[in-house]
Amino acid sequence: MTASAAPLSALAFDLFSALPPEALHERIRAARARLGSQVTLLCHHYQRADIYQYADLTGDSLKLSRLAAQSDAEYIVFCGVHFMAEVADILSAERQIAILPDLAAGCSMADMANLAKVTRAWRELSEALGEPAEKTVTPVTYINSAADLKAFCGQYGGIVCTSSNAGKITAHAFAQREKILFFPDQHLGRWSGYRSGLALEEMRVWDPDLEYGGLSVEEIRRAKILLWKGHCSVHQMFRPEHIERWRAQHPQGKVIAHPECAFEVCLNADEVGSTEFIVKAVKESPPGTHWLVGTELNLVERLAREVVPEGKKVEFMAPLVCMCSTMQRIDPPHLAWTLENLAEGRIVNRIAVPEHEAALARLALERMFAVS
Ligand code: 13P
Ligand code: SF4
Repeated sequence: MTASAAPLSALAFDLFSALPPEALHERIRAARARLGSQVTLLCHHYQRADIYQYADLTGDSLKLSRLAAQSDAEYIVFCGVHFMAEVADILSAERQIAILPDLAAGCSMADMANLAKVTRAWRELSEALGEPAEKTVTPVTYINSAADLKAFCGQYGGIVCTSSNAGKITAHAFAQREKILFFPDQHLGRWSGYRSGLALEEMRVWDPDLEYGGLSVEEIRRAKILLWKGHCSVHQMFRPEHIERWRAQHPQGKVIAHPECAFEVCLNADEVGSTEFIVKAVKESPPGTHWLVGTELNLVERLAREVVPEGKKVEFMAPLVCMCSTMQRIDPPHLAWTLENLAEGRIVNRIAVPEHEAALARLALERMFAVS
């Protein structure tokens, strides 16, 4: 059956929000069985356990964007956040439909940059440099950004990066032009610049709420990377002193962190990488390895359970609970509501990027795939 876009006659969400967990899981299973191969569920590693169990495919942002491009299912139900479902829509075929079970599942870091602010920064950079910014600056957007910012990069000879390829993308960007405007995550930008051999003084924070990013013309001219003043509220909770304390108690242990963590955390970790990298590194480590992990709690707790049989121990880096509250919004009531509507022939929560924007965003994503 092919669903038609008819949100007005969709089953109301309220019918699902009041159901007990067993009833919701029964309805999720029944709707999936009715939909069969028409639907694929892509799940990010940060998804909660009661959703993750339904994943057809899992991964980090790079892997999931590749999987979305390769999928042939009519409906791609994305259990992740808004920018991920946008990428699935941009990279999938025209007949395929990307769906985000709760439209409020955004990314607070992605929201720290928007087209108006980036366009203003680009104009100010042009003024400070005395020539169009595209002559000397490559715009690089982290995949955690809205589609119109990816389109901006497509338009101005820029590129998208993810946490697993940011190093290669930085090198590629410098091979094209002498400077980078990196948005929206200053930490990933700083870590990638540092790993590519830049000194910290060659990277300056660009505060989008201040004129010229809060920098003097001279500072802009000297900088190699302008780092957008954005961050992830989950990863900023991890601190170098958490690592220091843990190492004092577990001198043989290994520390691994996501590159969205602060520079000092990455610097003190043994390994730094994307969520997929973290999962792989822990799973492939020798039996008995003891790990301290600096990334979102759902991933860390799942990994800790999975490696118990091999005698490995996984601990969470911060003393506080650090969950991605927006990912967490994709819960059994929203998944049941989405799938049951699809099984009844109605599309809810479709994510559709306008084609003129999608075409430019695709260009910036394809440049990324060519490099990585
Ligand atoms: P990954 O691409 O490493 O999965 O990171 C996505 C993300 O949002 C981490 O906070
Ligand atoms: Fe965005 Fe941070 Fe959540 Fe990742 S963990 S999706 S960067 S808010």
